[in-house]
Amino acid sequence: MTTKSFAELYREWEEKTQQLLQKYPEQKERFETLSGIKVDRLYMPTEATKHDQEQIGLPGEFPYTRGVRPTMYRSRHWTMRQYAGFGSADETNKRFRYLLDQGQTGLSVAFDLPTQIGYDSDDPMAAGEVGKVGVAIDSLEDMERLLAGIPLDRVSTSMTINAPASVLLAMYIVVGEKQGVPANQLTGTIQNDILKEYIARGTYIFPPKPSMRLITDIFAHCAEVVPRWNTISISGYHIREAGSTAVQEVAFTLADGIAYVQAAIDAGLDVDRFAPRLSFFFNAHNHFFEEVAKFRAARRIWARVMKERFRAKDTRSHQLRFHTQTGGSTLTAQQPDNNVVRVTMQALSAVLGGTQSLHTNARDEALALPTEESARIALRTQQILAYETGVTDTVDPLGGSYYVEALTDAIEAEAGAYIDRIDEMGGAVDAVEQGYMQREIHLAALTTQKKVESGEEILVGVNRYRLENEQQPALYKPDPSISHQQLERLQALRAKRDNQAVEVALTKLKQGATGSENLMPLIIAAVKSYATVGEICNSMREIFGEYQPNL
Ligand code: 3HC
Repeated sequence: MTTKSFAELYREWEEKTQQLLQKYPEQKERFETLSGIKVDRLYMPTEATKHDQEQIGLPGEFPYTRGVRPTMYRSRHWTMRQYAGFGSADETNKRFRYLLDQGQTGLSVAFDLPTQIGYDSDDPMAAGEVGKVGVAIDSLEDMERLLAGIPLDRVSTSMTINAPASVLLAMYIVVGEKQGVPANQLTGTIQNDILKEYIARGTYIFPPKPSMRLITDIFAHCAEVVPRWNTISISGYHIREAGSTAVQEVAFTLADGIAYVQAAIDAGLDVDRFAPRLSFFFNAHNHFFEEVAKFRAARRIWARVMKERFRAKDTRSHQLRFHTQTGGSTLTAQQPDNNVVRVTMQALSAVLGGTQSLHTNARDEALALPTEESARIALRTQQILAYETGVTDTVDPLGGSYYVEALTDAIEAEAGAYIDRIDEMGGAVDAVEQGYMQREIHLAALTTQKKVESGEEILVGVNRYRLENEQQPALYKPDPSISHQQLERLQALRAKRDNQAVEVALTKLKQGATGSENLMPLIIAAVKSYATVGEICNSMREIFGEYQPNL
């Protein structure tokens, strides 16, 4: 507990903020409501709640309850980062450029399942899935086409890739090189969070040990070579989508985070060498105030875990920076236009919760991939929140609210109890292998389902206010020729590349995988030889084997 008076801390904070404003000036001279009333940067608790201010703290200061930056959206809005990807690299590149033209400020790549599970498009396991739920990326050539015309020194890119994250990151680094952008200028994120794949999402390849090795290899490589890259996006989104509660979402995500930090330290890395580039990914679900409190509680728990448990000294190691996606599972197939309202409220909870980056779901995503129109409305939702509502004018607007602070405290306590229980089980990896988190989530999902079926939980348009004979809106139609075209491209690549060089690179990778050296340089070399995602992953499958869940 600090010995300084709060008045002293506040004065110091004020000075630090003034300095920071040189680098990140606020976006307006004077913030004011529509009636011209001046809006301050920060509202402090009144005398009545003075005792809370140490617990709540200041934005940009430990324990970061009120946000990770002193000026938050007054200096820079969250990154508007719409998850997109389908069909071929060319088709997805077109959608990326459309969204950037429409004002999106960051990229987010959705890969198809074969890519996510390390199979080439011509692998029998890929049949029927090529380009379906995301873009098909087989080789460096596809990656070059995916990013064509997009300046990688100015745009940050998130890639939702986990088991083969090392391979797709290697491709991104090489495309950057080909664009003349050195690796140390690249900014972006790979999801790279294998534990939640075992818990909830399912796109795993290798068993936990080699998977954790690949993850810590990426931490070490990026700390050295790609210092602005966020090396992992520790995800609660899919845990919540699987039916967890908000408390479980925080608890299981942070328990996974603790496992990654411990694994990196056990691999010999100094905590402040990699922790500043850890990032998180949460869901923005229903129950508005709980969602706001959830984000605030998560920041405070993580700050304390990193400072007190892992003795991290660098303040950036204490800061929980996160991306949010509005809850896909809350979208209804019925009356899809209603989803625009749901997404707006969920997006607002993420903004009032201090997110750094945001994806807003499109109204038709309970039915199909978004059309261009519904993707645009989803982006416009963020832009209206940012530019028309005034909610970005002051930092942590709900801070000090008796309700939100009480919810924040409650979520912090309950999530903390879960984390203690998981610690007693030996940590997240052991808890996953014992099926503990999976069982807790399934129980919570069952409880919710029963409430919906009984009508206790109302889903507008679904179990109340239904419409008979509803018309279905125009939906995205996948191009049936995508798969055939992708196979032709892959065949042509294999014919024209230097297959000798590919063989040498894959052999070296396999030798490296049997040892303990960092595999990233070997994976980069394989990618440069135009070895494919499947060939590289199969080489590692040969050495590491595949994860077999003990159901
Ligand atoms: N004051 C001072 N500096 C500020 C500032 C402020 N107010 N606001 C921003 N900045 C600075 C930051 O410090 C940063 O500079 P740095 O890189 O030198 O530190 C820069 O401006 C960019 O700001 P952020 O880092 O906050 O924003 P980014 O968007 O670059 O990063 C992130 C956000 C959460 C850290 C990052 O990890 C990220 O973008 N994650 C996205 C993950 C994602 O999109 N996932 C999608 C998954 S889809 C999925 O899985 C669902 C599917 O399965 C269905």
